[in-house]
Amino acid sequence: KRLILIGPPGSGKGTQSPIIKDEYCLCHLATGDMLRAAVAAKTPLGLKAKEGMDKGELVSDDLVVGIIDEAIKKPSCQKGFILDGFPRTVVQAQKLDEMLAKQGTKIDKVLNFAIDDAILEERITGRWIHPASGRTYHSKFAPPKVPGVDDVTGESLIQRKDDTAEVLKSRLESFHRQTEPVIDYYSKKSVVAQLHADKPPKEVTSEVQKSLS
Ligand code: AP5
Ligand code: ZN
Repeated sequence: KRLILIGPPGSGKGTQSPIIKDEYCLCHLATGDMLRAAVAAKTPLGLKAKEGMDKGELVSDDLVVGIIDEAIKKPSCQKGFILDGFPRTVVQAQKLDEMLAKQGTKIDKVLNFAIDDAILEERITGRWIHPASGRTYHSKFAPPKVPGVDDVTGESLIQRKDDTAEVLKSRLESFHRQTEPVIDYYSKKSVVAQLHADKPPKEVTSEVQKSLS
């Protein structure tokens, strides 16, 4: 399966991805995770992306299209993939369609993580992540066994630099202005499934499973 997850910051894309990935043996391609790794490693790509990310703005289409073009060609992604956080502009969606057409494939499903903005601040400001594995916790909704510590490795958890109430405002603004049109783009192709992303994680998982069966 070739899937796209679209939703605002904190809607649960990164929480559901590992579950879907394991169930359908897909590769998980999260442009945000890849960009954060590049920023941490101070690669040329990371240096270009950092400023925009810190402010909650999108980085340039060319940067992320390049990352995805490389990633979807990998042997491990030939059976299918989950795109988490890409495409985020209509230009990115068009480029993706072109890349897939070259491979003779296309997107099977777009999962729309529909949720009210009002719920997102609490989710974003309470999030803790284990950067090495991508495991995500929430101080209230999904707390680790020991606060600030990863359950599996015992390593420290961190908070994302853009996970403040203030930066969230501009991330949401980018979402409504630049990414919502991507949902319309795929609606015209009749591949969008609506999820109630405000429900508890397990219920969202079963909605995902239903929409993929
Ligand atoms: P990115 O990393 O993609 O961030 P985002 O889209 O803002 O999404 P998040 O990761 O914040 O949310 P999520 O939906 O994954 O939520 P999660 O599951 O963790 O992008 C970051 C930046 O990179 C962008 O701002 C941009 O600068 C750049 N970028 C990335 N891709 C780009 C692109 N294609 N083009 C241009 N720029 C790009 O959940 C959040 C919290 O809520 C967690 O603590 C979790 O435990 C909790 N939670 C999850 N589900 C539930 C639930 N059902 N009930 C209760 N709590 C829940
Ligand atoms: Zn995420």
